[in-house]
Amino acid sequence: MKKTGNKLKENLNQKDFIAKGQCVMRLLMTKLEMINVELSVKLKRDVIQTKTGRLKTYRSTCKKLSKKGLEKNFSTALENIHDLIGVRAVCSYVDDIYLVQRMLEEQMDMNILKIKDYIKNPKDSGYQSLHMILEIPLVFQGETQWVKAELQLRTAAMDYWANLDHQLRYKKEDSRTYAAAIDQELKKCAEIVEYLDRTMLGIRRQIENI
Ligand code: GTP
Ligand code: MG
Repeated sequence: MKKTGNKLKENLNQKDFIAKGQCVMRLLMTKLEMINVELSVKLKRDVIQTKTGRLKTYRSTCKKLSKKGLEKNFSTALENIHDLIGVRAVCSYVDDIYLVQRMLEEQMDMNILKIKDYIKNPKDSGYQSLHMILEIPLVFQGETQWVKAELQLRTAAMDYWANLDHQLRYKKEDSRTYAAAIDQELKKCAEIVEYLDRTMLGIRRQIENI
């Protein structure tokens, strides 16, 4: 996406920017759909259960820029915020996440710029997911632009935890009753999620070996 102007809000809300962002989101979701079809033929089950996409809001972009100590302008946002376009895919089992990663690595029409594995190395909060920063070519008005997007891959159990953690933490921010004990409890729940995912995978493998 072109570095035009410095009026962050207007630029992020510009029809052109939103339209391109939505196209990139759809391209990535279609790519995931094709990967799911290919894998489901081979494995006879759905590997990707659901996928969602979103464009980062102006408010959240500002928050992130100031967290990073960066100026609030459009070109800075384009260069430094890699999840302006975000897609999330929920997979059935933990090993499916790595299957999808491998399939994405084989695609000729996209680049993987960065991978953060919060499954092998969960965050202090307990958060687990595989994050990838991808670069996707968008052909628009005869011009090819490589656009960055963030893909989050997680299991349904990880997704359940992350959604509730997100809700609870928002409430916690304006609450005076915030306690470190709550962090500990949420982390314990994340460990249960890890146990659940590992056990379900074990059960699937036992059944496959019968
Ligand atoms: P951010 O400024 O946090 O976006 O940092 P980053 O761009 O380095 O990305 P990071 O890999 O830390 O992942 C950020 C994204 O992952 C967030 O936008 C959330 O969607 C998700 N995430 C990361 N940590 C947590 C967490 O502790 N709880 C929940 N619910 N989500 C998280
Ligand atoms: Mg992010």
